[in-house]
Amino acid sequence: MDNSSPRIAVIGAGVIGMTVAKILQQELRNTNITIIANEFLEDTVSCVAAGIFRPGTSFKGPTKDITKKWINNSWSFWQDILKTPEAPEAGLMSVSSYIFSKENQFVTRNHLIEDLVPIYRTVEKDELKLCGEGWKYGSYFSTIKIGCDRYLPWVEKSFIGKGGKIEIKKIDSFASLRSKFDLVFNCTGMGAKVLCGDHDLVALRGQVIKVKAPWLKMAFYGDYDTYIIPGIDGVATLGGVRQYDSYNKEVCKYDSAAILERCCKFLPALKKAEIVAHQVGLRPHRMPVRVEPEVMDGVKVVHCYGHGGYGVMCAPGTAMDAVKIGVDMLRSNARSKM
Ligand SMILES: Cc1cc2nc3c(=O)[nH]c(=O)nc-3n(C[C@H](O)[C@H](O)[C@H](O)COP(=O)(O)OP(=O)(O)OC[C@H]3O[C@@H](n4cnc5c(N)ncnc54)[C@H](O)[C@@H]3O)c2cc1C
Ligand SMILES: *[C@@H]1O[C@H](CO)[C@@H](O)[C@H](O)[C@H]1NC(C)=O
Ligand SMILES: *[C@@H]1O[C@H](CO)[C@@H](O)[C@H](O)[C@H]1NC(C)=O
Ligand SMILES: *[C@@H]1O[C@H](CO)[C@@H](O)[C@H](O)[C@H]1NC(C)=O
Repeated sequence: MDNSSPRIAVIGAGVIGMTVAKILQQELRNTNITIIANEFLEDTVSCVAAGIFRPGTSFKGPTKDITKKWINNSWSFWQDILKTPEAPEAGLMSVSSYIFSKENQFVTRNHLIEDLVPIYRTVEKDELKLCGEGWKYGSYFSTIKIGCDRYLPWVEKSFIGKGGKIEIKKIDSFASLRSKFDLVFNCTGMGAKVLCGDHDLVALRGQVIKVKAPWLKMAFYGDYDTYIIPGIDGVATLGGVRQYDSYNKEVCKYDSAAILERCCKFLPALKKAEIVAHQVGLRPHRMPVRVEPEVMDGVKVVHCYGHGGYGVMCAPGTAMDAVKIGVDMLRSNARSKM
């Protein structure tokens, strides 16, 4: 690289942008990095997520190897934080989970994490009767959960501590970035669609209910997107729905009623749990997830968006690739100038 330090912007302050910024600061010391976004913390889709480390089996990068590498690298990244005393402040916790089905065995398996997590096994017959009724298939696994309500402020604090800058602003065009930055990371989630139209990016609408259930120590998954996931502060996430190409950001009372009915049937003790919030999030779904470079309006851009329902767990693996691509772009630029 040449002597002047490169000026780098990360657009987006969800789990993807914040994780890219964190890894950038580790890779490029003494570089000023600016995060630009119009929504932060609890206003991002990231904060709606339960953040459990369990990818859907259709989660997809450009190749099978890359998909697996993203997942493995993400797991290692989270494990490194989990080992430190900062884990609770960063929103990380270990969690065990049952996944049951009345209809299909395949939904209880997960080729993407079975070789990675400490335990992933088929349940015994009597475990099928633990809760709910009529389960025919099930698996038990141990994994982790990342609560973005804590993770995002934790990264932000350390980012600012290391000299990072934050700007609250909506980006409407690239032309505005050209004179100010040498490299831009596009971590805009669903914003990438609106900004100038990536038609492969589709909203997968989600709705959840947050309830007080400090007694809940495990996660449970059932058929029809039914899930019950404990949280670090005793607040559990109940879900959910997965509505393709739906852009409604309002809470739908019929979805709430359906989620509550399915979850209470699963774990009747939830009937007494106090409801803290109803939330909606549009998952930025894209097949495959986009992690690649592009020169747009003369600006060097690295895209990192389209993580669908798995952006929290997989942020680190994709961010590592995005950062590597960006650093390579800066280096090749420096050479061509000599
Ligand atoms: C109900 C639900 C449950 C989920 N559960 C899980 C789970 O258990 N595990 C998991 O891994 N994932 C889960 N997800 C998915 C996860 O939330 C997403 O994949 C992830 O949050 C995407 O992160 P992101 O940073 O790309 O997007 P976002 O969090 O939406 O952040 C986008 C950022 O870009 C900024 N931005 C966009 N456009 C512009 C612009 N033009 N100018 C400036 N800034 C802009 C926004 O302000 C924001 O800061 C769930 C999602 C939902 C909705
Ligand atoms: C980073 O920004 C600060 C002021 O905002 C400036 O003093 C410093 O020189 C910059 N560092 C680099 C490496 O550009
Ligand atoms: C991912 O990790 C698992 C378990 O450690 C290992 O068996 C597998 O080879 C790894 N795959 C890749 C692509 O890194
Ligand atoms: C992000 O990528 C999308 C799709 O190419 C594009 O429409 C959008 O302008 C990009 N945004 C930024 C800030 O780089």
